[in-house]
Order: sequence, then C-alpha cells, then structure tokens
Amino acid sequence: MDKKTSGGFSSRIGFVLAAAGSAVGLGNIWRFPYLAAKYGGGSFLFLYLILTVTFGFTLMLTEIAIGRKTGKSALYAFSALDSRFKFLGVLASIVPMIIFPYYCVIGGWVVKYMVTYVTGQGVNASQGTFFTDYISSAGEPLLWLCLFIIATMFIILGGVEKGIEKASKILMPVLILITIGIAVYVFTIPGISDGILYYLKPDFQKMSMQAVLAAMGQLFYSMSLAMGIMITYGSYLNKKEDVEAAVHHIELFDTGIAFLAGLIIVPSVFAFSGGDEKALSEGPSLMFVTLPKVFEHMPLGHVVGAVFFTLVLFAALTSSISLMETIVSIIQNKFSVSRRKICISISAGAFVIAVPSSLGFGIWSGIQPLNMSILDFFDFISNNLLMPVVALITCIMVGIVLKPSVIADEVKSSGRFKSEKLYNIFIKYIAPVILVAILISSILNAFGVIHL
Ligand code: PHE
Repeated sequence: MDKKTSGGFSSRIGFVLAAAGSAVGLGNIWRFPYLAAKYGGGSFLFLYLILTVTFGFTLMLTEIAIGRKTGKSALYAFSALDSRFKFLGVLASIVPMIIFPYYCVIGGWVVKYMVTYVTGQGVNASQGTFFTDYISSAGEPLLWLCLFIIATMFIILGGVEKGIEKASKILMPVLILITIGIAVYVFTIPGISDGILYYLKPDFQKMSMQAVLAAMGQLFYSMSLAMGIMITYGSYLNKKEDVEAAVHHIELFDTGIAFLAGLIIVPSVFAFSGGDEKALSEGPSLMFVTLPKVFEHMPLGHVVGAVFFTLVLFAALTSSISLMETIVSIIQNKFSVSRRKICISISAGAFVIAVPSSLGFGIWSGIQPLNMSILDFFDFISNNLLMPVVALITCIMVGIVLKPSVIADEVKSSGRFKSEKLYNIFIKYIAPVILVAILISSILNAFGVIHL
C-alpha cells in the first residue's frame, strides 16, 4: 500500500550528481546547441540562463520539496498533500512510463555508435545512409536496446545509495571531464574561431517570441521536470540538506554542460560546413549523421568520436536510471514486492513496449499515428501534452490551492530560502503563464503550424 519510500542518498553531492545526471541528457547535446545557434547565440544563452534561475528554479524546487516533504513516490506525493490531487499523481506517474521505453531505444543507438567508434569503424558511421540503414534494420537495434536496458537495470538493482549514487559519482565527473576535454580540443582546430564567435556573439535581432518559447520548452525538458523524477529523488534527500543550494548546483551542471556541448558542436559543424548555418540540424540527425561527418574531417576525429559517444552514453544512462528509479519507486510504493523483482519486470515490460518504437523506423514504418513515427508519437504525448499539463496543475495546486508556504516551510526546515519572494511570484503567476505558452506552442510546433 501507500508506504514511504525507503533508503536514500548518503550525501548532498550524491543527490546533486544524480539529479544533475538526470537533467543532463540527450536534450543538452542534440537540441540545446541547435537552438542557441538558431536563436541568436549569446543573447539566447543569456535568456536561457535567466529562465533557468527563475522558472526552472521554481519548478525544480517545488518538485524536490514535495518529494522530500512527503517522502513518497510521484504516485502518492500529491495526494499526501491534498487528497483531491490524487489524479495528478497518476498523470505524473504515466509520464516516465511512456518515456522510459523509447528513451532506451535512442540509448541503444548511442551504444551502437560508441561501439562503432571504439572498435575503429568510425569511418562507416560517416557514410551517407549508415544511420537510416541501421535504424531501419529489424534485429540489431533491438539487441543494443536490450543491452542499454540491462545496463540501466544493473545500476538500479544496486539501490539508491549503492546503485544510483555510486554510478552518478563515477559517470558525472567523467562526463564533465570529457566535455571540457573535447571543448579544449575543438579550440585548437585551425579556423575554428569564426564558429566560436557565431555561437557566442549576441544577435538581438533573433530574439523573437519564438526564441523565448523555444528556450522555455527546452529548459523545461532539460531540467527533467514534470516526469516525477525530481519528486522521487527529493523523497530520497536527507531532511538536513539545503534544498535551495542543491537546486542551484543542479542548474549549474545542466546549463554548464549544455553550454559546453554547444561550444563543441556549433563551431565544429560551422567549420566543417564552411560557415553554412543550415548545416546545423537538431535531434538525431545532428548527432548520428552530421557529427560523424564532422569527425571524419577533424584531426584525430575518430578518437574524438569515440570519446564523444562515450559522453553521450553516460548522459543517456544517468537519465535513463532516473526514469527507471521513478517507476521502481512508484511500484514499490504501491506493492510490497522486492526491488529485484520490480527491476526485472520493468525491464522486460520496457523492452516489449520499446519494440514498436524501434521497429517504427523499419518494418513498421507504415504505422504513423498523427503522421509521426511511433517514437515521435510517444514523445509528443509525453513531452508536448502530459508534461506541461502536469507542471501546470502542480503550480495551481501549490501556488493557489495550498499556498506556496507548504514548499517554503519545507525548504526553510533545513536552510535559508533566499529566493522566497521570487519563488512566490513565479509559482503563482509567471510559471503557469509560461506553461500554458509551452503547451500551446509545442502542440502547434508538432503539427507544423509554427517552427521552433
Ligand atoms: N533532461 C533530459 C535531457 O535533457 C531529459 C530526460 C531526462 C529525458 C530523464 C528522459 C529522462 O535530455
């Protein structure tokens, strides 16, 4: 039944690294650089930073505080505060269950690319149809998908402290070192300075309403909000830790890695394409098609490719463990079953659900719900619809129904709450408006009415 979640992080740094591991993911690497380049470089970076410390801060603090206050999983945390919001727990719990399987499909692609580079076959990855040939084949992607799920499962089997915290304490520092290492290397490439300038130079003419919408949507996804993840991790956070400071540290990691990913990707693609802005795409094609071509033309490109895909794999893995742990905590919270059994069942279930997303690029490509691939369809339902709705109702619940003091009291129980005034204004007025804008714009974007 409705029990408290057990076990927890042993230290604040463990918690921060795990939460930052969740936040730093594919979004930081394959979407942020593209958006920053498209919407005015330095001016977009500035806008993004402001939104992080206000809007992102508000939502993340809310989720972590709800988790820690109630000590419950995403399913029961809301109803523990107000029984009328039981439905919100159900909605928030569906999100990671939809995302986890298809996220692992992409995780499997990353494993494939890493192995390709590490085994010295990087040149193949740069060939014209390597990526589409690969994702449309029936067998191999399922194999790597399976491996990625098993890797995630092994970490989760270890529990919060010995699994997630330990893995994050290894993977995150390595991830940071690799990112800085590649960024420094890219700086030494001849002719790179134009691209660096292109990425950093503010271009206020590109600061449109769309730029603001794109920044808000990206931030929301990038900080792993409205997926139940921060509630879950918050429920494992020690009652003595300073929540506000922890949130600021997570923001720093998430934004820092996104910024560095841009510093690696934008100038490299820019130099490779001879300054053609259009060469910079977003999403899978940037990572799996354009970048392998860039590596092919870079001195020591295959080594950079191998290290880069290791970085992406670590980023994907620390995000997938946060998704799986969120589901584990929901099930543990509801049924008295051992962690081991839950982990194995979730992994098997996720694999089965992931199969259509994977085959949707090959033999099942004829199935196109709402004219999208199966994977994109799941992404649309979770990211574009459910997540903004969950976050919006959370704001209404905390800001209007319960009053922000529920969160403030929790934060103040273990430290100062320096930004309380800002928090109150955002949770009550500004965040809901932003979330409605995100909801509407992401639906219009998905249907091609606008292009973010
Ligand atoms: N924050 C992640 C990113 O930027 C998104 C994510 C987290 C997705 C956890 C799934 C699970 O890529």
